[in-house]
Amino acid sequence: MNDPISTLPTFHEARAAVANGAEPKEAARRLVGSLTPIEMLWLLDGDAPCWAGLDFLGKNGYHQAPFHAARVPRVGLPGFSFSDGPRGVVIGDRTCFPVTMARGATWDPDLEERIGEAIGIELRAAGATLYGGVCVNLLRHPAWGRAQETYGEDPHHVGEMGAALTRGVQRHAMACVKHYACNSMENARFRVDVTIDEVALHEIYLPHFKRIVDEGVASVMTAYNSVNGEWCGENAPLLAEILRGEWGFDGFVITDWIFGLHDAAKSLAAGLDVEMPYRMVRAERLAGALDEGGATWDDVRAVATRLIATLLRFADVVDAPAVVDSVVHRQLARLVAARSVVLLRNEEIDGVPLLPLSIDTRPTIGVFGELAATVNVGDGGSSDVWALDCVTVIDGLRTAAPDLGIEYDPGDDIVRAVQQAAAVDVAVVVVGCTYEDEGEFIGDAGGELMSLFPGADDPALVAQFQEEIAGLPPLTVPGHIAARPSSLGFATGGDRISLRLADGHVALIRAVAGANPRTIVVLQGGSAILSSEWDQAVPSIVQAWYGGEEAGSGLADVLFGVVNPSGRLPFSVPADEAHLPFFDREADHAVYDRWHGWWHLERAGHAPAFPFGFGLSYTTFELGDVAATVSGDTVKIDGSLANTGIRDGADVIQVYAGLPDPEVPRRLVGFTRVEAAAGTTQFFSVRIDRSALAQRDTDTHSWSVPVGSHVLEVGRHAGDAQAKRITVGW
Ligand code: BGC
Repeated sequence: MNDPISTLPTFHEARAAVANGAEPKEAARRLVGSLTPIEMLWLLDGDAPCWAGLDFLGKNGYHQAPFHAARVPRVGLPGFSFSDGPRGVVIGDRTCFPVTMARGATWDPDLEERIGEAIGIELRAAGATLYGGVCVNLLRHPAWGRAQETYGEDPHHVGEMGAALTRGVQRHAMACVKHYACNSMENARFRVDVTIDEVALHEIYLPHFKRIVDEGVASVMTAYNSVNGEWCGENAPLLAEILRGEWGFDGFVITDWIFGLHDAAKSLAAGLDVEMPYRMVRAERLAGALDEGGATWDDVRAVATRLIATLLRFADVVDAPAVVDSVVHRQLARLVAARSVVLLRNEEIDGVPLLPLSIDTRPTIGVFGELAATVNVGDGGSSDVWALDCVTVIDGLRTAAPDLGIEYDPGDDIVRAVQQAAAVDVAVVVVGCTYEDEGEFIGDAGGELMSLFPGADDPALVAQFQEEIAGLPPLTVPGHIAARPSSLGFATGGDRISLRLADGHVALIRAVAGANPRTIVVLQGGSAILSSEWDQAVPSIVQAWYGGEEAGSGLADVLFGVVNPSGRLPFSVPADEAHLPFFDREADHAVYDRWHGWWHLERAGHAPAFPFGFGLSYTTFELGDVAATVSGDTVKIDGSLANTGIRDGADVIQVYAGLPDPEVPRRLVGFTRVEAAAGTTQFFSVRIDRSALAQRDTDTHSWSVPVGSHVLEVGRHAGDAQAKRITVGW
């Protein structure tokens, strides 16, 4: 079976062979030759026993230690140690960055790469080597409970941002992109089957995954849901045909946690490498399937080889020292919090836009709403980062302007709030969502899923596991986490029931705005919040997301004009929920087609309340002429952007393409953030690869660029009437 001459006895020797020029895959194959059958099977799932592991998880173990898999000490195989995100690292006291959706609003891949780098360093400091925080499922509908964990609704934008995070993380660790694929509903995630045709799958739901695979991501996590009738964890078309076959992915594939794999033999044949995080379905059933011929040892060896080859490829990266500079990371969190803020509305009062506020004129300021004094950093499920020191809105504003004596009113008594609002120069109302309204959801796992649990753990393994966790450093639970009602438990939010604000929040906005014409509404949340019923009542609105541990300071930087807002919406805010695709959070079955997001609203003729890519600034910009140069398979768009105002600022130039067939969705194909000092003109270039215009051919199951005229629109948001149009013929 194995060739004894060419086997490598240890990981150390395999690594040396790679250092001497051997291909990682070949060295891995030779190391696999040294493994016993039991060791090979050991690689196929997480190292922890199931019931003991669940017990540890329930006692906050998730925030104490990574999940280990594939460690084989006899041959020095380090395996991998997984920890989660995406708003940082979930083990211990780590930097809590703004949620992914907020970072999507920066439209700034370079900044995202810096976050990735900081996260990679902190991940390693937490003892982990694989980061599970590259979440790029599309925001098909803004009610999706985990909207905050992804970058937005558009495949190109999501792909570029996710690739940037991957680049940054992988300077220090391995990254895992999730959840492959079509995972854009939460409450029904363990059971929903998504029906999707080849065109919609390849043109809308997969391009961003492919982009990140092309970036060299080490690992892919499958989704819980099924696609076209097959669970993603055992879906041969998704894993064997597309991911490995068509895209050439050579890293390893892991399941989503606990309920991500139903059939051990089928998952192996489809190309799923590691069942995470416990010894469950495969540990119980795979040996039997191998004995009975329902699974093959060739497939087991293929998994072992892929996994070890990836570990060899990343061995130097995960061994290099990673030194945490928490001050620098905190400053980065603040910069991102400020850069992610989207100014949605800023009307003039007495001839001057309400924002920014000038500290020099010493305005009296009243801040209203419970959320202003709440650490509101987002989801309470797997993405919950437990930073100990978080700055709320009221703290951030008071620190930024200590002499203004800023007043705070929780807004629970409307009469009192009205009196307070009438007595100040400016009112700031903070409203939106929390982890109770949206986020990860577990709910009732149900009968079929319970059958995936093993009868009992192996006692020897439990003893080993207990020994390991006994040595872990104690965990400090942050005050804002300790204050959560224990009845809510882990992962409670789920999909949103409505895109509206709660009635109480709308009433508070109306009451405060009625008493004070200088009212600013600050929205917190992970995706679109409908504003049409109240937005005309207030002069200024800012979308401030779940802004991380420096949310309050970053927001203060924007409100006081230290940072000129350059955030742009990573999704469309519809004028009416009825304009969106059908969404049933309890559906057992859903059909995903090519139509959602800005291109769906555009086609249906529904003007959004705020378009995709939109955001205001404290300065004004003018887009100059643009020109396109085609060279081979690339078109280069050159143009200029003038900052015609009196403040330095940044804008995001976006390129949208129409394909020759008007029935094919238009696409965002490029973007660039341009910084321009007041009164200056900056030049920019955006390169677009011809493949960005390709369409999926269902006869040949391949791509082709339709021949004809492609109209490229260079503008400042989707549907920008001022956009410049260029026609490119290919
Ligand atoms: C989530 C994943 C996460 C995993 C481990 C699952 O419930 O869906 O996104 O990575 O838990 O925390």
